[in-house]
Amino acid sequence: MRNLIDITDLSVEEIDRLIATAEDIIANPAKYSQVCAGKQLATLFFEPSTRTRLSFESAMLSLGGSVLGFSEAGSSSTAKGETVGDTVHTVSCYADIIAMRHPKEGAPYAAAQVAEVPIINAGDGGHNHPTQTLTDLLTIHREKGRLDNFTVGFCGDLKFGRTVHSLVNALSRYENINFVFISPLELKLPRYVKEEALKKKGIPYTQTTDLESVMPQLDILYMTRVQRERFFNEEDYLRLKDSYILTPAKLLNAKADLSILHPLPRVNEIQVAVDKDPRAAYWRQVKNGKFIRMALIMMMLGLEI
Ligand code: CP
Repeated sequence: MRNLIDITDLSVEEIDRLIATAEDIIANPAKYSQVCAGKQLATLFFEPSTRTRLSFESAMLSLGGSVLGFSEAGSSSTAKGETVGDTVHTVSCYADIIAMRHPKEGAPYAAAQVAEVPIINAGDGGHNHPTQTLTDLLTIHREKGRLDNFTVGFCGDLKFGRTVHSLVNALSRYENINFVFISPLELKLPRYVKEEALKKKGIPYTQTTDLESVMPQLDILYMTRVQRERFFNEEDYLRLKDSYILTPAKLLNAKADLSILHPLPRVNEIQVAVDKDPRAAYWRQVKNGKFIRMALIMMMLGLEI
């Protein structure tokens, strides 16, 4: 039995296989419509979600399986003081696989120690979000046809943005990625991510506060929301929340084949007018999230075809 807690729990070869399976699902959905018949996915979301929870549920339903779970901790016995371990142990008696989101870093890892079925980390605090990374990799692959030889700009809240941490880890395993980190000084990428993913491997990177000065270099721009729920005080959030607002004017000096990604939800960091730009890939990215999760559920249940 295996779990997906961190993106590095998957080898590069397995990620390539997941992307190939997702591509096949997109091309031949009927072929997969009963692969998970009789299987149940539990979604245990102790923190709000739209895309991750619903794409997991839609993925399992499209594979012929069924779903159960909760979308807020208050509707589970957590509200009576039950531990995460006991909750997960209980649900693993009913479901074949569990996708879990929790505000505490490391909670899915702790859950995996007691679960009797595979655990998928659907986001743990400001730490990791490996299935968003699979979505991002499928999107980059579909937009660009490859996963190497890019300059990638990560912009916004790089401190608390768990999707950034997981994607940096994932891309550091591909050839010739030039990392550019764009954030306010207070929201720089954490030292532990730079140390583990980049410095140990001798991968160069640059850090700046100025998006417009680096825009012409970028092949991919990964925008992120300032994570209000992780701030210790509202004053700091209000000061930093509008640090970067992507507008059509700011894209005038960007490459013609730039791909703009965002894990969503967005608040104010990409103007709606940018959605019409063919380089805006974030709504295609939302769709991709379902297909890569279908491939992942199949892999983790040993049901690959
Ligand atoms: N990208 C993402 O995790 O979105 P949700 O919070 O809506 O699941």
